[in-house]
Amino acid sequence: AKGKKPEELLVMYKGVLYPSGMCSPETFQALDIMEVRKDDVFLVAYPKCGTNWVRHILNDLTSAVSKNKEEVPPTEHIQMLEFGVPGKFQKIKSFPSPRVFTTHLHYDNIPKAVFGTKAKVLVVFRNPKDAAVSYYHFYNKNPGLPNVSSWDEFFQKFMSGEVCWSSYFDHALAWNKHMDEENIMIITYEEMKENLLGRVKQIAEFLGFSLPEEKIQSIAENATFESMSNKSQETHGKFGSIFFRKGTVGDWKNLFTEAQSQEMDAKFEECLAGTKLGARLKYDKYC
Ligand code: A3P
Repeated sequence: AKGKKPEELLVMYKGVLYPSGMCSPETFQALDIMEVRKDDVFLVAYPKCGTNWVRHILNDLTSAVSKNKEEVPPTEHIQMLEFGVPGKFQKIKSFPSPRVFTTHLHYDNIPKAVFGTKAKVLVVFRNPKDAAVSYYHFYNKNPGLPNVSSWDEFFQKFMSGEVCWSSYFDHALAWNKHMDEENIMIITYEEMKENLLGRVKQIAEFLGFSLPEEKIQSIAENATFESMSNKSQETHGKFGSIFFRKGTVGDWKNLFTEAQSQEMDAKFEECLAGTKLGARLKYDKYC
């Protein structure tokens, strides 16, 4: 984007790249000392792995358990935890429980208090080939991100981690070590595509929410790609079409060359083959 040099649009904090227009060192400092409640819910995802999808489900689930509709936590309005002004952390203190926070932060940069309480952490992953393709389109359409001249250029940046929130593989490696911890749940984009109703149920159980079957069903119906993209103007304004593009598994086949596919396979083999998260991603099936 869009008139600025790429390096002006990115800022490094604790070894990870961020969009400089959205993130500031002051916000990171305030985030570090954020107060966490035991019934907070943190949604963590590498970009383009299904953040908005799961956030929508979480908002519907928390609305359904809130006694008073008017008291539904307004946390969706604060966007990503790492975006915006530090003053927002003061505002967050008055939000009713259960609060839902969304972030793309690397495991190491998530406030330590999150893991020291009983707060729930839901982590979303997607096969890296589809995540890369989705990210490429997002880079080109989002005015806050640097322009990339071609898919080939973006692919190399993705592989070397020179993109916002840095390397997909670093995120995956970090979470792989924490998959079995209490209060952490991993879910994948592909699992949600395969069985949305089952996953919504599983998320509700993880959060300890007991809801009637019909409610779970209607939440799942409202979370299909069709339903969410139809409402995207309402929920995301003019950015709707940027966030809801295709919503499929396997779109990588339309952009990856054979050589790029092999390069990603080798990277996956090197980093994630034989790991628990690697197995959950079912790389062989989807890539
Ligand atoms: P594509 O670009 O492959 O279509 P994020 O929310 O993390 O930015 O991820 C965006 C990706 O999730 C986009 O992928 C988007 O279309 C997809 N997505 C959003 N809502 C979805 C839904 N309800 N079902 C399936 N995919 C969805």
